[in-house]
Amino acid sequence: MDSDLSLLLQDAEAASEPFPSLRRRKGEHEEFATAVLAGLARPPRSIPCRFFYDAQGCGLFEEITRLPEYYPTRTETALLEAHANEIAALVGMGRVLIEFGSGSSRKTSLLISALRNLVAYVPIDVSAESLQEAAGWLSLRHFGLNTEPVVADFTKPVTLPEFARIRPKLGFFSGSTIGNFTHDEAGDFLRGAARLLGKGSRFLIGVDLKKPENILVPAYDDARGVTAAFNLNLLERINRELGGDFDLSRFAHEAIYNEEAGRVEIYLKSLTGQRVRVLGREFRFARGERIHTENSHKYAVDEFQALAADSGWTPVKAWTDPAQLFSLHLLHL
Ligand code: TRP
Repeated sequence: MDSDLSLLLQDAEAASEPFPSLRRRKGEHEEFATAVLAGLARPPRSIPCRFFYDAQGCGLFEEITRLPEYYPTRTETALLEAHANEIAALVGMGRVLIEFGSGSSRKTSLLISALRNLVAYVPIDVSAESLQEAAGWLSLRHFGLNTEPVVADFTKPVTLPEFARIRPKLGFFSGSTIGNFTHDEAGDFLRGAARLLGKGSRFLIGVDLKKPENILVPAYDDARGVTAAFNLNLLERINRELGGDFDLSRFAHEAIYNEEAGRVEIYLKSLTGQRVRVLGREFRFARGERIHTENSHKYAVDEFQALAADSGWTPVKAWTDPAQLFSLHLLHL
């Protein structure tokens, strides 16, 4: 391990004191290095979107959620505000709330306030820093709330704290993060969540709806360029953490709606022919060549319910806003 990395690890450990379960995941650096080298070597080039979320990426994403063009966060929050009591009644009492991705604490807070007799809150996230923030804020805000954060990649099998295993659970997966999976991956995730949450559990999922391109594309390519900075931060992160020499002025953010596939696709596009070095390896880019950095799939209500049913979940109810921008799905097992 190089000394910069070990310093960072010590910082993260010192900063996570109030939650002893918070330790930066071992092997994060290696996983990032392996994914980047493999992703840049193969055609078509791609890097998994979870690497967007380092400390800078998390900050930029928070900014995205406040952009006028980015409707999902504010619409989902309004849906939760409007329907939290009905959701709480359908979910019932005495559950452990398991959140996948620590998300915006504001949304989670609305849910926590409405739920009756909540046993504990278990947020799962790859980023120790965002867990620290979310869990810290929420346990101050909800005095007496038993919070047990878990640093883990929820696309892989997760181990829950002992006490949570035997208790009835409610899963919460907001922000249409499920849309960042392909349909197959989303099915796998829902089956994995079924195993983790167990028989009798409930699952509340925020899912972005299909809609016209003139609303979708600006949400992923805003006028102020915050989304562009968020996407380009991935190259900066490679420069910072993997000794890369990407020239950020020679790459551009690109967002397109692939209507056939029902998804927004995000790319970093090389503006010139160029060579880039990462961890001592050289990669050549032709002008116009792209690195695929994210998919954001959109689902009609019945499409998502069919996917959930296919993965063993029974739809209980779905809520949408009057403008039909976003949906909240409650499922049971
Ligand atoms: N889950 C978010 C979404 O699909 C993530 C996201 C929002 C995102 N804007 C982005 C990812 C821009 C990459 C680039 O809406």
